[in-house]
Amino acid sequence: MGMVKTTGENPLDPVKVGLLGLGTVGGGTVNLLERNRDEITRRAGRPIDVVHAAARHPDRPRTCSTENIQLEFDAQAVVDDPDTEIIIELIGGVDLAKALTLRAIDNGKHVVTANKALIALHGNEIFARARERGVTVGFEAAVAGGIPIIKAVREGLVGNRIEWLAGIINGTSNFILTEMLYAGRAFGDVLAEAQRLGYAEADPTFDVEGIDAAHKLTILASIAFGIPLQFDKVFTEGIGQISTDDVAYASELGFRIKHLGICRREADGIALRVHPTLLPERQLLANVDGVMNAVMVQADPLGPTLYYGAGAGAEPTASAVVADLVDVVREFTLEPENRVPYLAFQAHSLSNEPVAGMDSVETAYYLRMDAQDEPGVLAEVTGLLSNAGISIEAVIQKQPAPGAETVPVILLTHRVREADMDAACTRIEALDAIHGSLTRIRVESLT
Ligand code: HSE
Repeated sequence: MGMVKTTGENPLDPVKVGLLGLGTVGGGTVNLLERNRDEITRRAGRPIDVVHAAARHPDRPRTCSTENIQLEFDAQAVVDDPDTEIIIELIGGVDLAKALTLRAIDNGKHVVTANKALIALHGNEIFARARERGVTVGFEAAVAGGIPIIKAVREGLVGNRIEWLAGIINGTSNFILTEMLYAGRAFGDVLAEAQRLGYAEADPTFDVEGIDAAHKLTILASIAFGIPLQFDKVFTEGIGQISTDDVAYASELGFRIKHLGICRREADGIALRVHPTLLPERQLLANVDGVMNAVMVQADPLGPTLYYGAGAGAEPTASAVVADLVDVVREFTLEPENRVPYLAFQAHSLSNEPVAGMDSVETAYYLRMDAQDEPGVLAEVTGLLSNAGISIEAVIQKQPAPGAETVPVILLTHRVREADMDAACTRIEALDAIHGSLTRIRVESLT
């Protein structure tokens, strides 16, 4: 097992840190370490200095001072710098980030990362390597921006059996849905603003298609249930199919549409799913708006808890990066086997509980369809649902738009198995009086 450098003779010797990536979060982290330097030093026991950083464009103007930082293009030189004890990985992406992270670990350095894709896809391998080398990897900033959700679930809830967890864990998609509801703004226009504000991923399809949320849910599920990271098993659906009409109709019915990540113990395993969801408007989660994130955890014996805060942006994410840095510094002298396990459960105690398929997941449903405006159509639709054993909670039929042949019909169903709803929707779509495909959005009460 590789030895890790520990504190020097003088307890106030700064801890030297290398930084990969000086973009939004990198700049925020340097600024935060400077602005709250005294507080951070008092908490960590030593000052923390970024001394060496890699940036794709080292000469570009920065949002932070780089006066005391050796700045360069070559990320590997930062990882190989023998003077640093910790590497902060903020370059994003997967392949290069993985290679640099493993190299930093092999060099005996601790790593702090905000890279959810890296952890969700390669965390099992990275943690194993870090265990071998006796270093630690912090990833608080990878999930829900500044909310200390990893800390809360991994340490604060350690005495609980977690039953389910549901969260708004992508700020960009929540910002888009909120602006659609309150300002009636178009999807693309709000997404462009989220990009300008630095909330969105480099590839914003990761936000709107739910991939970013699926990365985060993968991590949350592992620390909640003690299962290995299994990103490939997350059911993922984006918000692209949600229209301003759906947002308005849901509101008429007393619901808000939120893009949720949910993991729950089901009869045949743990279901991992990310999809737009109607939530009753009285639910606290339904009122988490804008770029804010929130995660609700149902645990035994604690019951429900809710963790709320800024889920994206430079300084909220920097807050989580610095929290990990301080934890690493505080643990310099701790034997590796005494550290908090990465996935909350000891590595040899991870469970092989299966991930449940979607077919057996049960939720209520919001259905919207374009129906020919003639007698008997609604009866045909409700008849098909009834034959499938699906009961209906509410129906709205809207006025046809001027000149339109069809009318929007909106139905809310009671809870039904996903497979049964799939079959019923196929039959409804086959009706001559129904034009195009149905919009289906799952409904959860989170009780
Ligand atoms: N693009 C992410 C979001 C950034 O919008 O939540 C934080 O992970």
